[in-house]
Amino acid sequence: MRTLGLVLVAALAISGCFGVDRNNFKTCEQSGFCKRLRALKPEKSQYVLNLDTVIVHGNVLSAEVNTMDYEGDKKVVLWHYALRLSALVDGTFRIEIDEADPLYPRYRTQLALDGEPAADGLRLASNENGKLTLINTQGHKVVITADPLKFEFLNQKGEVAVVVNENSQLFVEPLRVRKERVDDEDGQALDVEDESAWSENFKTHHDRKPRGNEAVSVDVSFPDADHVYGIPQHTDRFFLKTTTDGEPYRLYNLDVFEYELDSRMAIYGAVPVMYAHGSSRSAGVFWHNSAETWVDVVNYAEGNVVSSLVNLVTGGQKRKVDARFMSESGIVDVFVLLGDRPADVFRQYTRLTGAAPLPPKFSLAYHQSRWNYVDEADVRSVDENFDAHDIPADVIWLDIEYTDRKKYFTWDPEKFPRPAEMVANLTAKGRKLVVIIDPHIKREAGYFVHEDAQDNSYYVKDKDGKDYDGWCWPGSSSYLDFFNPAASKYYAERYRFENFPGTSKDVHFWNDMNEPSVFSGPEITMPKDNRHYAPPVDGADGLSSFWEHRHVHNEYGLWHIRATKQGAMDRTNGKYRAFILTRATFAGTQRYAAVWTGDNMAEWGHLAATVPMCLSLGAAGISHCGADVGGFFKYPESELMTRWYQAGAFQPFFRAHSHIETKRREPWLYEPATTALLRDANRRRYALIDFWYTLFYEHSIDGLPVMRPLWQEFPEERDTYAIDDQYLLGDKLLVRPVTEPGVSSVKVYLPGKDARVLWYDVDTYKMIPAQGYLNQDVNIAKIPVYQRGGSVVPRKERVRRSSALMADDPYTLVVALDHNNTATGTLYIDDGETTDYTDSQYIYAKITYEPSAMTYSFDSRKSPHNSEFLSGFIFVNENAHFPTRSWLERIVIAGIKTPPKTAKLHQEEKQTALQMTLHKGNDVLVVRKPGASMAKPWKITFSY
Ligand code: NOJ
Repeated sequence: MRTLGLVLVAALAISGCFGVDRNNFKTCEQSGFCKRLRALKPEKSQYVLNLDTVIVHGNVLSAEVNTMDYEGDKKVVLWHYALRLSALVDGTFRIEIDEADPLYPRYRTQLALDGEPAADGLRLASNENGKLTLINTQGHKVVITADPLKFEFLNQKGEVAVVVNENSQLFVEPLRVRKERVDDEDGQALDVEDESAWSENFKTHHDRKPRGNEAVSVDVSFPDADHVYGIPQHTDRFFLKTTTDGEPYRLYNLDVFEYELDSRMAIYGAVPVMYAHGSSRSAGVFWHNSAETWVDVVNYAEGNVVSSLVNLVTGGQKRKVDARFMSESGIVDVFVLLGDRPADVFRQYTRLTGAAPLPPKFSLAYHQSRWNYVDEADVRSVDENFDAHDIPADVIWLDIEYTDRKKYFTWDPEKFPRPAEMVANLTAKGRKLVVIIDPHIKREAGYFVHEDAQDNSYYVKDKDGKDYDGWCWPGSSSYLDFFNPAASKYYAERYRFENFPGTSKDVHFWNDMNEPSVFSGPEITMPKDNRHYAPPVDGADGLSSFWEHRHVHNEYGLWHIRATKQGAMDRTNGKYRAFILTRATFAGTQRYAAVWTGDNMAEWGHLAATVPMCLSLGAAGISHCGADVGGFFKYPESELMTRWYQAGAFQPFFRAHSHIETKRREPWLYEPATTALLRDANRRRYALIDFWYTLFYEHSIDGLPVMRPLWQEFPEERDTYAIDDQYLLGDKLLVRPVTEPGVSSVKVYLPGKDARVLWYDVDTYKMIPAQGYLNQDVNIAKIPVYQRGGSVVPRKERVRRSSALMADDPYTLVVALDHNNTATGTLYIDDGETTDYTDSQYIYAKITYEPSAMTYSFDSRKSPHNSEFLSGFIFVNENAHFPTRSWLERIVIAGIKTPPKTAKLHQEEKQTALQMTLHKGNDVLVVRKPGASMAKPWKITFSY
């Protein structure tokens, strides 16, 4: 019976009718702690800092915090807590509040941070009238009010940027022993425990809460903010909305079948970082907690929130956003990011959680996936069809059906008998293979992974300590406990070539279902009272000797991809970069993997949602983001497919993927006119492949989003704050994908009017001064993309079958002039696949254009593995070099007012006179065939 039920669940998960089944997922009301905490709205915080206990040592203030109550006039201490406030480099502070002496250790999230955050100096400047004032070395201040406890964070200008516990919503539920039931003489309970503190039910699932209630929460206020952003992953707008009218935003990694749009429901990822922005400043908070989390937002400037009182006081102009983070367990651990420009807060966050290391170049090119390419012949035919139709592609993907009956690290012997040959066939054209490897393991006697995991106790345990048995693609499955170092090591080793025959350095990995998805589990995931490994500690027993799944849930996928990345790097002894795609996300995911937005639909709304979803992930450190091009469920008709390829070509991770039951839809299966448009979109991506590569190199150094909200570059321009249907790539290209059907014109916002920014339509080089909104005509071939005046963008115009085959091809540099007739840009070049760049084998060139000369010079920064990583400074690395065979084929200068008469190239000892042609009307000057080697610096001088 049970099996039948589970099969039904699985079958429904594959082919149910469209639309999310909300009944499968909790509302705040159904989530014990969310309901409990949301109802708590004390007028005054019970938390009081004991000023007699304050110690400031190094970068840390430590003190005792107590909760207080009154017995008549007498104050009594209810509970003791330990506070640590640390000053960290780069305008960042950390508040940690734990119980002073908890009954059991409370979970501290382990993997989100990229090492111990670097300390800044901290000085106690004053201690008077119940307030402490502390200052870091940069002049940021913290004012702590003792009673009731409140933290105000001031920026260098002395403005209050962030306030913690202004709304008295700081809570740490103390761990306690369950009371024995005491009955009176009639057997009636005298002191009844609230049963919901010790167990909860959802649908047919029972959660035994052996440690009782242990929730934490904190409120954060952002004065003067227009909006808050972040806390992906949701399908809502990029800016977050006031939640008081409904559900809070939920952060709980879940496999939500047919997720709906404009929703605050949790989906696959959970990154608890939030940014506030207004015209005065940006600030942020990172809530360092891996348990189920709900976030309430109140934006006082939103019409429905401005109370009559606020109206009275401020004339309705009050700008402020309050937020509240509520988690089921853990400690209060909140990082305050003081900005105060948008780029500062984004960098402050990646400084804590790391930036993505440079990805292999192929991963920025086009990926072709489907559930499933059914056998080797199918793979061969897809591969050949790309060539036959002259469409570039770098990667073919294999979904779960390639395995021997869903046993990962094996191949279906009938359908994929010769994987090594198949891979060699792809690599001959510079192409790669990605295969899926999920974290669930088929419980089948004789399957080596299962037997090893069982024998060595590598599985997550159920509440009774037995191997947890859930239902996923293979049927009855268990889940590796990556928190156990031995299990992670074992898993990493499965990726070695000898352990996974048929793979090579050109085979990469897709880690799916790692929320983890459990078809038979509560909310399609693992029971919260499951048990994970905790390192043995002397004397720890019972509840202290393991972590419950509830403590670590949002972090599970991170441990999974970390083991995968380790294995994928180790198999070549670290020589070749590895590419991994993950579905679950958490803070720090970017250090290991790229992300896609899961099972979307072939619908226009889903196409539009790709932009806010990736903007939000990008701001949360995860730049390498994309969505299933074409939509996973359903079939995209020609127009939608065309617009989706055009959008995907300008999003960081560009992969077409589709559900097993949908009609095949490789680009050549459409009518020729559509195929031509899809080809054109792919070719545009390939022409800009080195631009993308340079952006990702720069991200690895500065930690900034690759795909940026307009307000990152134009922070004072209020009109940009709510724009999430267009974005910037780096600071150079503005993209406004067409996501509406049947349109002949779209609204585009060109920012920078006050700074006299010029924009250039990349198709025509027509110059358009920044002017806010304009209408852009769009026929079906048009992708509205604009290059910012003052920038140089590298292109490769000879598009080939794969990006690897274009490695030595010549460059075209597109120079778009600003109103001073100048421009700058950068170009990063290396071998595209090894880690030799960490040993100075690269070029990072700076390109500058002035009317008198254009120069290409090497202004290399240290590699990202360097300890100066993300320090924000440019280091000249004298030794960096790369013997590229690429040369300079063309320079296109757009917006030229006075064309030069002559141009001369200078490289090493040689000087060469160059030919130019002027394209009047669009004021474009083309310098033809300069022929300079890109391996060495050069200069072109102009005379008039
Ligand atoms: C769920 C993933 O989201 C989807 O992309 C994939 O095709 C299926 N799992 C099957 O592996």
